[in-house]
Amino acid sequence: MLVLDDVHAHYGTAHVLHGVSLRVERGQIVCLVGRNGAGKSTSLKTIIGVVPASAGTVTFRGNRIDALAPHTIASKGIAWVPEDRRVFGSLSVEENIRVAAQATARSGTHRVAEALAFFPDLAERAKQLAASLSGGQQQMLAMARALASRPELMLLDEPTEGLAPSMVQAIRTGILQSREQGVSILLVEQNFRLALSVGDVFFVISRGRIVYRGTRAEIVAAPDVIRDHLGLGQAKEIAKWQE
Ligand SMILES: Nc1ncnc2c1ncn2[C@@H]1O[C@H](COP(=O)(O)OP(=O)(O)OP(=O)(O)O)[C@@H](O)[C@H]1O
Ligand SMILES: [Mg+2]
Repeated sequence: MLVLDDVHAHYGTAHVLHGVSLRVERGQIVCLVGRNGAGKSTSLKTIIGVVPASAGTVTFRGNRIDALAPHTIASKGIAWVPEDRRVFGSLSVEENIRVAAQATARSGTHRVAEALAFFPDLAERAKQLAASLSGGQQQMLAMARALASRPELMLLDEPTEGLAPSMVQAIRTGILQSREQGVSILLVEQNFRLALSVGDVFFVISRGRIVYRGTRAEIVAAPDVIRDHLGLGQAKEIAKWQE
């Protein structure tokens, strides 16, 4: 449903993506992994249109989207949850979701309850100000907000970064439930163990280029790829995980 073909991107004169090609099929959870600065966030930004592709094409459900404005891309069914979460602290949980749902042409009606159903921990706090939430709860809110627009594809940028293990599990459950509801997912995740526990297909990015594509079974069986592009620590984690 989503195809990036030889996508390049620049920040000013800095050439950051050097021909990224990847695809997400309907119903898949696809993980994009790689070291700091490899170009993971930029790849997501290029899909949603906040960073323009300077060359190459992005196709969603058969139509080119690479020259469109972010809100137009969102209205076609792609939701982006950025690294920094960006919740409105002075609004309640419910209001945050309602504002997002109203901003998206796809969702005229309020889908607050529907979005909250993904995260029971958040549902209990519907009236609470977003500023009073923990980091994990804010991440759930950022995802609930994205889900309120009923996207076909959700782009998640390091949703579990800096979160306690119980929160990581809640986010994981939310990701799996989203997929069950028919949302395809492109997940950028530094927690490789978590990525392995949800991902169907893995793309490894290094210095703005995709250097590996494999299924979960394939990447687990390729410790050299993990060691070279994700680090020795991750390779050891996987070795432990396999025992
Ligand atoms: N706004 C910007 N202006 C200039 N350079 C940028 C900007 N944002 C990112 N970069 C550079 O582009 C490259 C890719 O950054 P990107 O944020 O896509 O990496 P990432 O894989 O998401 O890394 P991280 O794991 O640290 O989030 C890096 O070298 C980064 O320094
Ligand atoms: Mg990033």
